[in-house]
Amino acid sequence: MIQKKQIKTGGLAGVVAGKSSISTVGTGHGLNYRGYDIYELAKYASFEEVAYLLLKEKLPNAKELAEFKEKLIHFRALPDRLKEVLKLIPRDAHPMDVMRTGVSFLGNISADDKLVDVRLLGILPSILAFWHNFHVHGKEIDTQSTKEDIASYFLEKLHAFSKPSSKVSLALSPLGTEVMNASLILYAEHEFNASTFVARICASTNSDTYSCITAGIGTLRGNLHGGANEAAYELISEFKDTKDALKGIKAKLDSKAKIMGFGHRVYVDNDPRNVIIKSYSQKLANKLNDTRLYDISEVIEKEMWEQKKLFPNLDFYSASAYHFLGVPTAYFTPIFVISRTSGWLAHIFEQRKDNKLIRPSSEYIGLDKQSFVALKDRK
Ligand code: COA
Repeated sequence: MIQKKQIKTGGLAGVVAGKSSISTVGTGHGLNYRGYDIYELAKYASFEEVAYLLLKEKLPNAKELAEFKEKLIHFRALPDRLKEVLKLIPRDAHPMDVMRTGVSFLGNISADDKLVDVRLLGILPSILAFWHNFHVHGKEIDTQSTKEDIASYFLEKLHAFSKPSSKVSLALSPLGTEVMNASLILYAEHEFNASTFVARICASTNSDTYSCITAGIGTLRGNLHGGANEAAYELISEFKDTKDALKGIKAKLDSKAKIMGFGHRVYVDNDPRNVIIKSYSQKLANKLNDTRLYDISEVIEKEMWEQKKLFPNLDFYSASAYHFLGVPTAYFTPIFVISRTSGWLAHIFEQRKDNKLIRPSSEYIGLDKQSFVALKDRK
């Protein structure tokens, strides 16, 4: 007889599932990418330097960075066949599905060669901006730009045909670039999170890079993972003021609802990335002279800590920060994709260096052995 034993698998919490030299997360070392502190990287580095660090295992010198950026710029251009596919994806599709299909289709028309990392990192902002402008404004973006960095290139192309507004002006200002750059750095890498683990599993079967990234995007989409930034905006925008927010959060907690943008599998009492994005959210709100959403966010943060000892993760204040830059809510998680692809790629390459198929086992909790019953005799 097969022994039945009820165990709580607990989503692999606390399980060390492999070795990695890419980042430390909540392990007593703080958050570091290849040994570099996240606070220093977010303050002093460009996203391109950080992507290079993750991929090539060292910070680039000036020449290496210039060459890397040149390749990223080269790969902003969208192949005609990919443009046709993007035009076919309906306007009401979720932009995460656009990213997934974009990468998947690219895998049909591009090689999985030494340039796959720069090809993907270079083209992702163009995929999102092209689809957006084609379906919302009926216009095709020109992927040529004088902007050398991904942060300002993305904001420029996203708002290529946006109506002038204070949010759009802020997005196109140096502060807009600074916030987007820091946000891309903060989202770039986070050890064995769900989407990275999936990308590594895919790589461990000797699959191709496009398939690994497509799998990562599909996994990031859910609101317990990357989709939380979008869900967090939906939450804060429900409330008209801080009083309303306080009442609303209490009611949600009473009904045992999950509050999106709070809590973390690995961190216990704070997410080190929060302080950086929170201060940018406040800066942007002050610049816009409209702190309502920021104030609502702070009230929720305070109440969540008082009632549940839960803290905001990176997604919570990213929601208001992106909103202040005029980014449509559904594009919050695709921005996460633009960034996290650097981490996914680093993990895919690391997995391939010393590969072993990732294939755990499960504990069987099903029926005991059964005798087969012919179809005619079944009730
Ligand atoms: N709001 C309300 N309660 C929460 C919560 C949240 N955001 N996050 C955790 N909790 C509560 C759970 O309800 C559970 O309570 P219980 O023991 O009384 O049932 C307890 O805290 C443990 O939560 P659990 O979901 O089992 O922990 P986990 O490690 O599996 O989950 C997350 C981690 C991130 C999935 C979880 O905190 C969550 O769902 N957060 C919201 C989504 C989010 O922001 N995701 C982005 C993560 S970076």
